[in-house]
Amino acid sequence: MESTERNPRRVVLGVSGSIAAYKAAEIIRLFRKARVDVHVVMTPSAQRFIAPLTLGTLSGHPVTVDMFAAETGGAYMEWGREEKGGIAHIQASRESELIVVAPATGNLIGKVAHGIADEPLSTMILASSVRVLFAPAMNTRMWENPATQANVRALIGRGYRFVDPEEGDLACGEFGRGKMAEPREIVDQALRLLGPGRPELPAVLVTAGRTEEALDPVRYVSNRSSGKMGFAIAEAARDLGYPVTLVHGAVSEPLPLGIERVEARTALAMMQALKKLSKSHPILIMAAAVADYRAEKPSKSKIASGKKGLAIDLAPNPDILEGLARDRAGRITVGFALETGGGLARAREKMRRKGCDLMVMNDPTRPGSAFGGDTNEVVLLRYDGGEERLPLMTKYEVAREILARIELLATAPARKGKKK
Ligand code: C5P
Repeated sequence: MESTERNPRRVVLGVSGSIAAYKAAEIIRLFRKARVDVHVVMTPSAQRFIAPLTLGTLSGHPVTVDMFAAETGGAYMEWGREEKGGIAHIQASRESELIVVAPATGNLIGKVAHGIADEPLSTMILASSVRVLFAPAMNTRMWENPATQANVRALIGRGYRFVDPEEGDLACGEFGRGKMAEPREIVDQALRLLGPGRPELPAVLVTAGRTEEALDPVRYVSNRSSGKMGFAIAEAARDLGYPVTLVHGAVSEPLPLGIERVEARTALAMMQALKKLSKSHPILIMAAAVADYRAEKPSKSKIASGKKGLAIDLAPNPDILEGLARDRAGRITVGFALETGGGLARAREKMRRKGCDLMVMNDPTRPGSAFGGDTNEVVLLRYDGGEERLPLMTKYEVAREILARIELLATAPARKGKKK
């Protein structure tokens, strides 16, 4: 499990000269949060928009700004070890898996389309065989110019990828297409292109967030789950190299990046999605807060206000975990039990009834374990009666603990092949 962290994913971030260059700082932050090592290469004009010092400090590596570093004795980058001299444009991309160019100007795109290499970034792209993802940023007319469009088409035809620019207010005061895609969108697409770090690991299916059960077209029954715990599990599994799919209901936080995502807003929709996906995912971690009830017959029109003693018939939702436990064929299943004021015995009973290998019990009324918070204090219950009380830690750390227990379970001979 640790090998992915010892050999982090490596991405080159190429920055060309657009006002959107300041967003490169956020792109680096998001990559590093996803445990991706970033080496920055800047064109001379990019350096007029943002200082190499800023991007170098954020990435933790010297920035390549000089094609002639070997001649001038300037620093160049070799992954993991900074040295003097060498051929910067060849070296930095050699051990990376992907070059992301954000922002990519019309000029830079044009140069790459025509094989021009007259500064470090275009030179590196020409000299490299790794995949390249461009995030264009320019004035609408530059973007729509037939020359730019022809260049983009030519590059797509050669296998280069693009995150299309968005429509919005541009720095030149105009409105139109040309605004660089948001950093989250760029990093999401980059991580998806990289794919899982260790595709040979069993695929993990994680649920997160809350379901919303409609009462009428505008109202619903739900709960306070933010989605953070499930997101932390999906991110931790991604960072360890697992292939991950996230099934989520309503959430209050930005969705994790670089992960296959399926939205399922109601318990019934979530059950359908999981029935299908569970067949191809040997690990299921059910962190979603599924509403226990739904309206028997949701009203087609908005229920009028002021009704005295309004009664709505509720029907119990199917228990998704319990249903899936029946044909779980060797799958490892982790459930969450939210109990206020103790409740170990209740959590244990749930674990048995729902056929879980591991039950994560938490109490949202305890300090540090609140809905939407970044920390949690949990008790891990094992199918064989084992019980582990973990100290207060971040949700990401809790996720790592859960995944470590799953790895042990996956190799435990006593449990292997026992399930029907
Ligand atoms: O019974 P309780 O709601 O406390 O059980 C919590 C666990 O069961 C969680 O893992 C939750 O995702 C799952 N669950 C489910 N289907 C439901 C309700 C809860 O799978 N209808």
